[in-house]
Amino acid sequence: MSTFYITTPIYYPSGNLHIGNVYPTVAADAMARFKRLQGFDVFFLTGTDEHGQKIELKAKETGVTPKEYVDGIVAGIQALWETLNISYDQYIRTTDGTHMAAIQKIFRRLFDAGEIYKGKYKGLYCTPCESFWTESQLVNEKCPDCGRKVQPAEEEAYFFRLSKYADKLLALYEENPEFIQPVSRKNEMIQNFIKPGLEDLCVSRTSFTWGIPVDFDPGHVVYVWLDALANYITALGYESGDDSLYKKFWPADVHLVGKEIVRFHTIIWPAMLMALGEPLPKKVFGHGWLLGVSGDKMSKSVGNVVDPTALCRHYSVDAVRYFLLREIPFGSDGQFSNAALVSRINADLANDLGNLVSRTAAMADKYFGGGLPEERHSGPEDGSLIALAKETGQKAEEHLERLEFSLALTEIFRLVSRSNKYIDETAPWQLAKNEETKPRLAAVIYNLCESVRLAGVLLAPFIPSAAAAIRECLSLPVDCVWEEGKQWGLLPHGTIVKKIPPLFPRIDKMDSGQRTADT
Ligand code: MSP
Repeated sequence: MSTFYITTPIYYPSGNLHIGNVYPTVAADAMARFKRLQGFDVFFLTGTDEHGQKIELKAKETGVTPKEYVDGIVAGIQALWETLNISYDQYIRTTDGTHMAAIQKIFRRLFDAGEIYKGKYKGLYCTPCESFWTESQLVNEKCPDCGRKVQPAEEEAYFFRLSKYADKLLALYEENPEFIQPVSRKNEMIQNFIKPGLEDLCVSRTSFTWGIPVDFDPGHVVYVWLDALANYITALGYESGDDSLYKKFWPADVHLVGKEIVRFHTIIWPAMLMALGEPLPKKVFGHGWLLGVSGDKMSKSVGNVVDPTALCRHYSVDAVRYFLLREIPFGSDGQFSNAALVSRINADLANDLGNLVSRTAAMADKYFGGGLPEERHSGPEDGSLIALAKETGQKAEEHLERLEFSLALTEIFRLVSRSNKYIDETAPWQLAKNEETKPRLAAVIYNLCESVRLAGVLLAPFIPSAAAAIRECLSLPVDCVWEEGKQWGLLPHGTIVKKIPPLFPRIDKMDSGQRTADT
């Protein structure tokens, strides 16, 4: 069986996650579910990045140890993933003993190979971003990533010979056009970081202790980004004595990361792997940001965050998942607002999908409660519906392979809308009035049930609970395979179709106004 390894960034447990944070994990989940439906042996990794000065400071403020501090937040993050129906295979914490031991081995190996050497660090450090900067990289004398003040820092430190990898990285991008996606981010890496000259990277700190100790030099802890990036291989047992998962799943098929951390994943990470002599990930996809209503990046420091748990409680988990994946093309930035979320729920989920499913189920139950009949008469309205239905799965698949979630959903909802139009064109309630038109009615209801069945398969990666409800209403097992979503006519005659409560109740617009104020 072919394998598929997908990762999210591992999160800083420095507070509750907001709706912008959960975006890459919802996307990774949709992709993991899609690949499982296709029959791949999937490994989906997520977790938390728990070391560094930022966490140490937060714990101090709260009056607990760093480990106590992260334990509390990690429990909340894991509960959030459960709420959001995130089907990860492993949750790695960088405070896990196996990860920490593996990082110490990796650090030592790089040192022994001459890839890491001891020197003196003098420069500027942004604590919230855990990033080193040179004077020339600052914007208005502030951190170019978050715009906050940087601190001068001078200390004895270990350095990774990043500078020697510039040409190798350029060759990697050149020879593997798929490596950095979307392609615009590749140019950014070359122009902004590699062409101006790569400097060796400081990979240890002595001014704080909350990190993985360099075991051969007490007082030094491993730089948090080196510790964090290697999670993608330590989670698979790299340097643990049992590397069976590593052998099976590495290299990763795709790392999903926010655009501000693409440089860590496409410069430092491949250089580290080259230094270790390991294969490189196949793709790094830099997604865009969710912006608040004012147009700024949604973040706690800006103060414009929205709580995902409250949204899910109020609008349903599937509605939130759908919105994130449908509203914003994955590589671009996009605004989050309650009004836009409510519009999507009402227009797409309640009106289009919900109506199609409940009208179809209600008519099938009313006219053929004992089971869908075998005798069916085709009619002039059928051709275009069936032609569209037959190509929808293929088109959605092609978009999903390119992580174009929004376009895949557009294709699937084209079929949903077309099917609703088919109800108006064929007017089943008229056909039900005469005994002679019953065979035509049977065909119309069958065709509608088939469209609904296809939606139940093709939507399963995005809105798993609603997709399962759709399949149950058609008396089908919840488990399915992607191929079934590409084939017309699989529903057997005699199928009992059950009435179903509205999948997505309409939201009152007033209600959305209130939520904007209090979420
Ligand atoms: N710990 C690092 C990642 C290390 S990976 C080896 C980190 N953590 S984070 O908690 O700050 O961010 C986690 C993810 O959330 C990142 O991919 C980041 O881009 C994403 N987002 C944070 N705010 C976001 C938005 N407003 N919109 C979209 N994604 C956002 O970075």
